[in-house]
Amino acid sequence: MPMPMPMPSEMNGKVDINGYSNPNETAGKVILCRAAVAWGPAQPLVMEEICVDPPQELEVRIKILFTSICHTDLSAWKGENEMNRAYPRILGHEAAGVVESVGEGVMDMEAGDHVVPIFNGECGDCVYCKCEKTNLCEKFRVNPLKRGMTKDGKCRFSTKDGKPIFHFLNTSTFSEYTVLDSACLVKIDSKAPLKKMTLLSCGVSTGLGAAWNTADVQAGSTVAIFGLGAVGLAVAEGARARGASKIIGIDINPDKFIKGERMGMTDFLNPKDLEKPVHEKIREMTKGGVDYSFECAGNLDVLREAFLSTHDGWGLTVVLGIHPTPRMLPLHPMELFDGRRIMGSVFGDFKGKTQLPHFAKQCMRGVVNLDEFITHELPFGKINEALQLLVDGKSLRCLLHL
Ligand code: APR
Ligand code: ZN
Ligand code: ZN
Repeated sequence: MPMPMPMPSEMNGKVDINGYSNPNETAGKVILCRAAVAWGPAQPLVMEEICVDPPQELEVRIKILFTSICHTDLSAWKGENEMNRAYPRILGHEAAGVVESVGEGVMDMEAGDHVVPIFNGECGDCVYCKCEKTNLCEKFRVNPLKRGMTKDGKCRFSTKDGKPIFHFLNTSTFSEYTVLDSACLVKIDSKAPLKKMTLLSCGVSTGLGAAWNTADVQAGSTVAIFGLGAVGLAVAEGARARGASKIIGIDINPDKFIKGERMGMTDFLNPKDLEKPVHEKIREMTKGGVDYSFECAGNLDVLREAFLSTHDGWGLTVVLGIHPTPRMLPLHPMELFDGRRIMGSVFGDFKGKTQLPHFAKQCMRGVVNLDEFITHELPFGKINEALQLLVDGKSLRCLLHL
């Protein structure tokens, strides 16, 4: 059954959205819609009516249909990185939606296309985008201090009395409508279930890509994953799909082990239950250490444990957690002479625009079990409840319906 399309009401050239919009009515105009606005560190998000400007050159305005909350939103909401405090702001970077209208020069998308935002964009033209060794982009790589659009540094969001509202991570998805650079938007097969595609926008791509692209986990190898949120469990999915023989999950919240077991993890450790450092236990369990470890908790002490858990000579530690405190890597340079390696992974080393459509198809074929990641669903208006579920460690991903 097609959705009935309510006519938007129009006042002073601004279109008030009530339900789904008709691009013929809204293109080129300011849209009035709901957004969850952050006004200060750790303050409840406030559902406000805001103005969303039309997209400028090479920008796209989309209607968000689903969004979810990742730990990076949580860190930003808490204001953990003081340099990155900017209010009012619209957080959120994991979502799926439909193109409402495109700005001048956008050739690869049109109104009605199904899309997934990517916070780590791909312009396709710069020296990084042309290099096979990296998925960073000169213009659209993650810059937590960026608060406006790339073209002019300005915000496309404002309050009804004209105060600018800052953007976040090239995406700002806690809004019924958002404006992105077209480099930060991936067109997805219209047959793919958009609800599940939301997970590809960050968590699942980040974790799974770290196992496949960054570490290139080999069949029969051993793996330790520190932090079993959506990111850590996505690493587990990736390692399982590659045929890892042992996948050890480490978390201080034992509730996470139930899910981990369902997703193919073979062993679990709670550091709180151990009388020795977790890396010693892991080395015992694996005759000298795992081949790969992944830090998905965003904690420097955990990172050191992850590093020491790998086998000397060839062990590789991949850092996925965001570490907001201004402390340095907890390693002595001489420790690297033991042949353990350490590297970071952003967005699972996927080049978003080029590789995500294929990854989406793999997910649709069931290579990855996406259903397990959606533990809760709520209407957008209950976003603060969703935030609390993540704070309390009760959810992996709570899908918000807009
Ligand atoms: N030791 C082991 N596990 C820990 C520790 C610790 N000291 N501290 C926290 N954890 C666990 C939590 O119990 C939780 O299960 O880490 C997990 C983190 O999961 P989520 O909060 O759901 O975070 P997620 O969205 O998976 O992101 C993980 O990757 O992208 C980054 O910013 C993100 O740093 C975050 C990380
Ligand atoms: Zn994220
Ligand atoms: Zn680029």
